[in-house]
Amino acid sequence: MNAVLDYLNAHRDRFVRELCDYVRFPSVSAQPAHKPDMRACAEWLVARCEAIGLEARLCPTAGHPIALARTPRRAGARKPHFVVYGHYDVQPAEPFELWKTPPFEPRIEGTSLFARGASDNKGQHLAHLNAVEAYLATGTELPCDLTFVVEGEEEVGSGNLAGFLKERQAELRCDAVVVSDTGMPAPGLPALTYALRGITAVEIKLTGPNRDLHSGIFGGTVDNPAMALSQLLAQLRDKKGRVNIPGFYDDVVPLSAFERKQLARLPYRERDYVKFLGVPRLFGETGYTAWEQRSARPTVEINGLTSGYQGEGSKTIIPSWASAKLTFRLVPNQSPAKIAQLVKRHLKKFVPPTVRAEFQDGHGGEAYLLDPRSPQAEAGLRALKTAFGREPVLLREGGSIPIVTEFKKILGADTLLLGLALPDDNAHSPNEKFDLDNYAAGQRLSAALWPELAALS
Ligand code: BES
Ligand code: ZN
Repeated sequence: MNAVLDYLNAHRDRFVRELCDYVRFPSVSAQPAHKPDMRACAEWLVARCEAIGLEARLCPTAGHPIALARTPRRAGARKPHFVVYGHYDVQPAEPFELWKTPPFEPRIEGTSLFARGASDNKGQHLAHLNAVEAYLATGTELPCDLTFVVEGEEEVGSGNLAGFLKERQAELRCDAVVVSDTGMPAPGLPALTYALRGITAVEIKLTGPNRDLHSGIFGGTVDNPAMALSQLLAQLRDKKGRVNIPGFYDDVVPLSAFERKQLARLPYRERDYVKFLGVPRLFGETGYTAWEQRSARPTVEINGLTSGYQGEGSKTIIPSWASAKLTFRLVPNQSPAKIAQLVKRHLKKFVPPTVRAEFQDGHGGEAYLLDPRSPQAEAGLRALKTAFGREPVLLREGGSIPIVTEFKKILGADTLLLGLALPDDNAHSPNEKFDLDNYAAGQRLSAALWPELAALS
């Protein structure tokens, strides 16, 4: 093990340079114009995997390709098998003007590496690859077989991954899946995330007149789709922060006293949080703490709202249409499909007869909940402690990684979420960054994890 750690130390700078190369690819899965960049990025990753001695290939899907790589298998030797999952796709970098330096030109400042995708998720899974390189390069025997599955569609809902897992079920069956794509509550404070929220996405478009109209000539006689949509959306949440859709909370399991106690132990100072986010005041569901609100309670959010003239100056029109992209964060036991149905039924009921409504279902994924006292979770906690030199905490997270429930269903394995992102990493925001100390700690974590996990099998 010392040889592995020494190797990681000795190659620290090169690993950082490699991460810089990786984040230079503008691998934005949501934008068709980046399709060639997606492929180039995946090819780069496959080449990296091959260079360190993995058997790797690029697997096409109906969408973006998946990079698949595995440690060389020795005939006859049966070892435990673990899958490491990550995603090489990133969120759109817009608005570009808010980036201090361009999103796909990595910049290092102190111990931070700034670039879109540095934290979510390229740096986090590359750390695992670096650790495996250290094993292979030093001739240290890995106590397990590993398969890396790095997809290109996580940020758009992982639409093709479940099918891929099913097709290769035999090859991918494993004892556990390891994912570093979540966060830590504070610098230096490692965490095992045992719950994620689910998600369901719905788009709504209201159309009124067959073209934008002069608002002076026609205003007063026709409805304004932007106004109608605003009124419709405004009803979705009440003043107490509750989602105002009949049946929405029916399947929500109340938080146990144990859980509330766990969450209450996490670091939190309201004043710092308010300042960090730059809001005049917080808003959340009455009766719950901030940690509960952001990780264990369901919500509705408007992610995008589009209508009318968005250019400079003014243009006096009644827009022909207005549209909104909505997502609902869900908690364990809520069904994404059922919630999408409830939402549409509810909205349809209140669409005024003066406009036409169209709905489009988006991606969805169930919430995830792991027993934090399972032997594998305990193994993860031990590895975190070894890597960070500090007692880890248990975390519920508000973000979603829809595929983790599929790992359980298709591969029969639990997922250990060992995140390396800091709260101020700016995931999905301008000036995303990844902490290079966490990058190094992530490599040590991976190095320590395999013996811990393999010992259980
Ligand atoms: N890494 C995040 C998920 C995450 C972030 C989990 C922080 C826990 C804490 C992931 O890349 C992500 O952003 N997922 C999307 C999924 C969606 C597009 C289906 C999300 O949560 O919005
Ligand atoms: Zn993300």
